[in-house]
Amino acid sequence: ASEAEPNAVAMPRAPYPVFTRQEVGRHRSLAERVWVTYGSEVFDITDFVELHPGGKSKILLAAGGALEPFWAMYAVHGQEHVLEILRGYKVGELSPEEPSQPAQGDPYSGDPPRHPALKVNSLKPFNAEPPAELLTENYLTPNQLFFKRNHLPVPAVDPARYRLEVEGPGGRVLVFSLPELKRWFPKHEVTVTLQCAGNRRSEMSRVRQVKGLEWGVAAISTARWGGVRLRDVLAHAGYTEEDEEAGERHVCFEGLDKDLSGVAYGASIPYCAAMGRGAEVLLAYEMNGEELPQDHGYPLRVVVPGVVGARNVKWLGRVSVSREESPSHWQQNDYKGFSPAVDWDTVDFATAPAIQELPVQSAITAPAPGATVPPRELTVKGYAWSGGGRGVVRVDVSLDGGRTWHVAELMGEEQRPGRAWAWRLWRLTAPVPPDRTELDIVCKAVDTSYNVQPDTVEPIWNLRGVLSNAWHHVRVTVAED
Ligand code: MTE
Repeated sequence: ASEAEPNAVAMPRAPYPVFTRQEVGRHRSLAERVWVTYGSEVFDITDFVELHPGGKSKILLAAGGALEPFWAMYAVHGQEHVLEILRGYKVGELSPEEPSQPAQGDPYSGDPPRHPALKVNSLKPFNAEPPAELLTENYLTPNQLFFKRNHLPVPAVDPARYRLEVEGPGGRVLVFSLPELKRWFPKHEVTVTLQCAGNRRSEMSRVRQVKGLEWGVAAISTARWGGVRLRDVLAHAGYTEEDEEAGERHVCFEGLDKDLSGVAYGASIPYCAAMGRGAEVLLAYEMNGEELPQDHGYPLRVVVPGVVGARNVKWLGRVSVSREESPSHWQQNDYKGFSPAVDWDTVDFATAPAIQELPVQSAITAPAPGATVPPRELTVKGYAWSGGGRGVVRVDVSLDGGRTWHVAELMGEEQRPGRAWAWRLWRLTAPVPPDRTELDIVCKAVDTSYNVQPDTVEPIWNLRGVLSNAWHHVRVTVAED
């Protein structure tokens, strides 16, 4: 070049084109090319996919979205030479996030951007779970991949104007800004697994159709939550542990998300769960060390360890103490369990208690259903968790449909007695039974009360498809030796 143009001087590189997240999100396959973002830069990594040391299928999970949650899981990427490789594929810059302007007529147009790796169950309202195999890559689920369960549009909350209302005894209302909450009450952190009551509902639908979103096994995730204890705030408002005796039975929460008629999402928990000595119910403003993301309740949400996701009210607007449970639809007429004998013609929601603590649960996250597995030795991975602070004492895994069993190795943080708020991940490596072309892999967990998962779905089937915790089966093909 210098011969052709003897007077040429080094020209600054032309600025990169600018792309929106939506544009990046359209590049999710080799055919459409594979784009990813890191920080504010956009990369076309199509030509690297086959070279990825971790395999093609893993890198494709990030296609169309941010690399950060994956690199948080696979920390080996945090090295200069990896960044160096990535830089070689740069094709653009990410346009600065445009503040979402609620378009007229679409209450969901203010919803935040989401990671394209999520498997979407419904867009409006937004409900999505991560690919199951990712769940057990990390003890804490990266925020962008944490399952999301919204009943209504995500409310736009201005942090400067945000106020939490707390109704004290006699109806006196205290009002806190977020900085006031942070200043006046000690910060408490706790690792908690949240699980939706509808996790694994799709397995119930296979028995008989149920009403609800068709969740797979990943409507469950774990985070380290930071915030103030609800107990401290209620004590400041004038409540004591003894007030339960005087008839205060429930703590009610109201979200700032509202339906078209102006009715807010709401739920309640028993008073003793909030006010008991050592109770760890949080008003959380942090999730895995970051400010609470919009989808998860920014700026403040309730985190009720050991209790069904539905009571963990997001975008918290109001807390009150009452003799009655929350009057909310989601407390009174949803999230309740019934006999398989009850159908939509006969159901009376008033006859069943609202779900609070969830039963023991476990599921297989790898291999995936329908996968081809190696012929001699197989590694099976999954999660196990139980409600009410009950720990997981054991996970049994069968490779032959439940005839013979192995005991899996439990991983993750040690569980505190009675306060096992977070899951255990588990793993089993075992020889593949000889002469099998197909395997029916099964898992079941046992909790510290020696509760065990039921073996089949039929006897626990219920019209709403909640509390689906039967043995989990994954059928796979064995590769030829
Ligand atoms: N809080 C509000 N305000 N609105 C909601 O729709 N969904 C509930 C709960 N809190 C909900 C809410 C349900 S059903 C679940 S399972 C959890 O939030 C999900 O929390 P996540 O989206 O942070 O995973």
